[in-house]
Amino acid sequence: MSQTASYSLMVHGGAGALDNVKDDKTAMRYLEAIRRVLEHGREVLELGGSALQTVETCASLLEDDPIFNAGCGSVLNEKGKVEMDAAIMDGRDLSAGAVAAVGNIANPIQLARLVMSESEHVMLISEGAMRFAEHCGITPAPDDYFYTPDRIEQLKQARLHNKIMLDHDDTEGDSEDQKYGTIGAIARDPLGNLAAATSTGGIVNKRMGRVGDSPIIGAGVYADNETCAVSATGYGEEFMRSVISKTISDFIYMKDMNAEEATQAGMAYLTRKVNGRGGVIVIDHNGNCSSGFTTKKMIHGWIEQGGESVVRF
Ligand code: GLY
Repeated sequence: MSQTASYSLMVHGGAGALDNVKDDKTAMRYLEAIRRVLEHGREVLELGGSALQTVETCASLLEDDPIFNAGCGSVLNEKGKVEMDAAIMDGRDLSAGAVAAVGNIANPIQLARLVMSESEHVMLISEGAMRFAEHCGITPAPDDYFYTPDRIEQLKQARLHNKIMLDHDDTEGDSEDQKYGTIGAIARDPLGNLAAATSTGGIVNKRMGRVGDSPIIGAGVYADNETCAVSATGYGEEFMRSVISKTISDFIYMKDMNAEEATQAGMAYLTRKVNGRGGVIVIDHNGNCSSGFTTKKMIHGWIEQGGESVVRF
């Protein structure tokens, strides 16, 4: 495939059964949200914004939408608290920033970006991350910015069933929790630079202090200009154990695969090794877009080589 001076962009809003998305109105709400974010990202790219700026902007917009499990829509842990994880990576030089188990931060992806650009570290967690946010001048968001009646009810259900549940759990029939999702954005700008961002509230009723794959470089997120950008969504423990985002990048680096081939190989690996549940979005260094998931559905969309936006479950 030849190099192109165009741009590509993909976003996702989580993977799972999504059995609750039965009516057109709910489906449209998701698809419109994804398309709106894609079109906003297009504007950033067409105005000369970098892949990094674009994924930060798109992830922030998704964090600001309560239908997604990130930012203000984050799920609650076993203590009824929000603990969010996020990471961002720049494919130009493999620089990366991540935060884990943070509360009261409206846009964890922006804090992750600050960790990348303003600290000498890659990841800050919990109280240390909050102190760093204060140092950077970020005003904490009040508790009621996060605690929606839906999320409280969702935790109640999880406790009732003594379960830890994925945002779009496959095993919960048509329960309400299935309508929420982890979010991610990946982009290739016209200069050929790749970037990736992933942000999440994690899984419902998770143990306090549990960290998933989203902020782990190589698991929930990865970007390398020589290979691809990846953002993952699903059961974090399985994505961490299979280091799925870096594995997909390695398929491209070592086997000269394109996005589609590497995604398929990655999903096969995820299933064979850990029976992983979830999905990925991938843009390769030539701007080819691909997605794969082992769940019934994944909410996602893309703009390939500057073309029309496409949105899908
Ligand atoms: N993939 C999100 C999480 O497991 O936290």
